[in-house]
Amino acid sequence: MSLRALINSRILISVIFILLVGGVLTIWQAKQAVEKEVSSSFNLALQMIDLGFSRLSRTPLTEYEWLRQISAIQKTRHLHISVVNEEGEEVEWFVNDKNPDEEIPPQWFIKSVETTYPEANYDIRLADGRSKQLIVRADPIDEISEAWGESLAYFWSVVTMIGVIFLAINMVFNSMLRTVRSIVVGLRRVESGQYGRKLPPYDIREFDAIASEINHLSDALKVAKENNQALARHTMQIQESERRNLSRELHDEMGQSLTAIKAMSTAIRQPGTDVTKISDSIAEICNHLAGVVRSMMKTLHPLSLADLGLGATLTDLVNEWRRRHPELMIKLNYDERLDQVSHELAIHVYRIAQECITNVVRHANASTVTLTIRQEGEHTSPRVVMRIRDNGQGGKPSGYGFGVLAMQERVENMGGRFRFESEAGKGVSINVWMPIIEKIENE
Ligand SMILES: Nc1ncnc2c1ncn2[C@@H]1O[C@H](COP(=O)(O)OP(=O)(O)O)[C@@H](O)[C@H]1O
Ligand SMILES: [Mg+2]
Repeated sequence: MSLRALINSRILISVIFILLVGGVLTIWQAKQAVEKEVSSSFNLALQMIDLGFSRLSRTPLTEYEWLRQISAIQKTRHLHISVVNEEGEEVEWFVNDKNPDEEIPPQWFIKSVETTYPEANYDIRLADGRSKQLIVRADPIDEISEAWGESLAYFWSVVTMIGVIFLAINMVFNSMLRTVRSIVVGLRRVESGQYGRKLPPYDIREFDAIASEINHLSDALKVAKENNQALARHTMQIQESERRNLSRELHDEMGQSLTAIKAMSTAIRQPGTDVTKISDSIAEICNHLAGVVRSMMKTLHPLSLADLGLGATLTDLVNEWRRRHPELMIKLNYDERLDQVSHELAIHVYRIAQECITNVVRHANASTVTLTIRQEGEHTSPRVVMRIRDNGQGGKPSGYGFGVLAMQERVENMGGRFRFESEAGKGVSINVWMPIIEKIENE
């Protein structure tokens, strides 16, 4: 259901309710008013007639005198007076003049306003011996007409008011819908990756806030997308350069050594060659090759992670840096429980530690770096928490380099959070948490 249909239907239900309740109240009020007005007129008429009769009854009058006496009540409203003559016929004596402008109310209104009204009969004896009967009845129709007129006025004023409110709401609504449509168009643009076009400012504050949030979102997505593309390009470059290095190393180290071994194997067949010397040379070349292969494998993958576990590999890494940079104090606080985490998670922890120490050595100019790597939340959502803090010069990377970006990417791919905090002169603190996924048995 559209919002417009919803609002309009709610307004319509309210209007019907207001009109129903208002209508019932109006009819009830009209009924009270008519009853009061009619009964007071009727009582007044009766009093006047009683007064006239008390005077008349002493000496019977002629018909003319009698009529003159009684005609005073003609002025009283809401009465229907008739006379029954000697033949028993009822003759209307007088009926109140109807106001010709007054609209005759519909039958249903008369029925709902009308009640039973009193009626009075009088026997009249004239001087000439004839007798007549005077019948006085209440005649509420002109009062009911007045009430009808008032009710109609009430009805139309309510209808006009509701109409105006309805129009005003729909006008506001139209402008809101236009804004909503343009926000939806903006969201579609963001969805399709057109981050350049921004939503304009809007007059309505709430919509303006939504639009500016969407604009921020679009900016953030643009940056994330650019970062991703750059990272992907960088990854491909690294891959290419690693392949180049590998092939060069294979060519230079392996190629030369293998050629040398081959040459020696030919030389050994020559009579009178120094076999011991050649065999020593081959052994030396093999040792050298073993060293080259080991170092190549180490660059490609920290082998010891699978064999020794995360803790020992990290200690190895830290010791290696301590050996290379004795001036830098490297502290490692490691939680042994983390030796149980999956191989994938262990690789991420290792790579992050490696990149952080490299960065400290390269950029921080620090005397101390502390790596705290521990497990939190044993039973409920266990996670590995890393905090690498140095006391160097600090320095926020203006648009992270690839090292920081790659760390962030690693962490976020694992469903964790990465934070780079830096204070000028006080060093950098890298805070990471990643959820621990159960180690799979056959890993
Ligand atoms: N520990 C640190 N101390 C000071 N600056 C740092 C530190 N770590 C990172 N940075 C800053 O962040 C930038 C980005 O780092 P990184 O993404 O690792 O790229 P790279 O190391 O290749 O320059 C660095 O160039 C440096 O300016
Ligand atoms: Mg780096």
